[in-house]
Amino acid sequence: IPEKKLIIAIDGHSSCGKSTVAKDLAKKIGYTYIDSGAMYRVITLFAMRNNLISGDKVDENKLAHLISQVNISFQYNTEKQRHETYLNAELVEDEIRKMDVSNKVSLIAKIKFVREKMVAFQRELSKEGGVIMDGRDIGTVVFPNADLKIFMTADVEIRAIRRYKELKNKGEDISLNEIRENVSKRDFIDENRDESPLRKADDAIILNNSHLTPEEQLDWIVDRMNEIK
Ligand code: DC
Repeated sequence: IPEKKLIIAIDGHSSCGKSTVAKDLAKKIGYTYIDSGAMYRVITLFAMRNNLISGDKVDENKLAHLISQVNISFQYNTEKQRHETYLNAELVEDEIRKMDVSNKVSLIAKIKFVREKMVAFQRELSKEGGVIMDGRDIGTVVFPNADLKIFMTADVEIRAIRRYKELKNKGEDISLNEIRENVSKRDFIDENRDESPLRKADDAIILNNSHLTPEEQLDWIVDRMNEIK
């Protein structure tokens, strides 16, 4: 692994295991993992709690005023061995992963001033390098000069099944159909929004993990890191 502290950008579709790979890799090589999607989820939760979302409409004016009240932070919980997200002083890690937030997050993630604020925060957190960040616009907008850009994807059906198992394990009562719909809908909105749509950066390398184990994916990325000149 290169000695220099790199910036590694992992973008791709929803529920294809970006965060799992990013976290595993960060642990393996001693890098900092940053979950940019969690940031959009926190803003969504905040907007929902303040009744700023009704149906498919967001009260952007009110959100613009209130967003300064939002402080997002991350902490690693050694006991639970997981990264946890905070909204101000409140632990919201579980709440931001629920379906009601997942169903609304694309509405928030397409708002320009929200993205600008999150991108600034993402760059601030990465100043020292040695960072692996996953999201949708990391290689295209946040770090156009990232040392390594990976674009991850997997077949929709495989992604839906993985998400289904994950949510079932957490005790959420939800059907595979509902999840498949959510995954496809998020792909569509993410790829077709005006602000920073999800797309592969020209210099990103595609990783389709439909039929790869987590270990195989890690090895693949480490190989790519070692190819960096
Ligand atoms: O990675 P995730 O599923 O937790 O992301 C949640 C949502 O946030 C997803 O629907 C797209 C959006 N997102 C984004 O627009 N840009 C990012 N860098 C990360 C996530």
